[in-house]
Amino acid sequence: MNFSFELISLLRRTSKLVALTGAGVSQESGLRTFRDAQTGLWSQYKPEELASPEAFRRDPKLVWDWYAWRREAVKGVRPNPGHYALAEIEKRVPESILITQNVDGLHRMAGNQRLIELHGNIQRVRCADCCTYAETWGDDTESVPQCSACGGLLRPDVVWFGESLPRHQLEAAVEAARTCEVFFSIGTSGVVQPAASLAFAAHNRGAVVVEINAEPTPLTPKANYAFHGKSGEILPELVKAVWE
Ligand code: OAD
Repeated sequence: MNFSFELISLLRRTSKLVALTGAGVSQESGLRTFRDAQTGLWSQYKPEELASPEAFRRDPKLVWDWYAWRREAVKGVRPNPGHYALAEIEKRVPESILITQNVDGLHRMAGNQRLIELHGNIQRVRCADCCTYAETWGDDTESVPQCSACGGLLRPDVVWFGESLPRHQLEAAVEAARTCEVFFSIGTSGVVQPAASLAFAAHNRGAVVVEINAEPTPLTPKANYAFHGKSGEILPELVKAVWE
């Protein structure tokens, strides 16, 4: 991959870098991207039809089981070179912030600490009614586990379609996007709001926008630099070109 001298020198001198990631970053760890076809038992459902409060009200057990299946899939995977390159960028760029739409926890596992998880984390479970977090729950296969505090149904602590994002995380992400010098959009189709608007907010405030994605997205025409390929290959090459 050829990175321009301008991009390399900008990255060497900037302290205000924001990266937004999506499911594509975890694809090389073996996790399916959000808009990939589902497999096996789940192939008859669209993720959008399972990830919503309506779906949970209609059939809580179906939704609980889908997340239990995804939680198990996440347990067996490890960060890939793209995750580690982003952790390296955090070390090199003093005020950098990583914003992720992923709920898999792989960025933290790779070492990122200045991290905003916009859509929650699949490993956390909370009560759908009183929001109390559950550390453990039974694995009764017949029904959805219940909250030990109020008896409500437990659910994953992720953001569903039609729900608001956690306010503090969203405000921090918007502030970071509006004040950064360089904004990376990595492994995201850029179609889900409000996350998708962050790159445009950064662009409107004069930040240099860099896209790394397997294919072009609605952001591509606005990006100052667009690299199309695997983030697990491009990011380590970029880190090497800029900082090694
Ligand atoms: P998507 O599945 O919509 O998009 C993943 C993007 O990653 C696609 O554009 C792929 O081309 C690209 N991609 C695939 N493999 C890649 C690789 N190895 N390297 C780089 N790019 C790759 O996932 P998101 O954009 O994350 O939200 O979806 C956003 C949100 O939609 C999710 O967080 C989820 C869903 O609604 C909620 O559940 C609230």
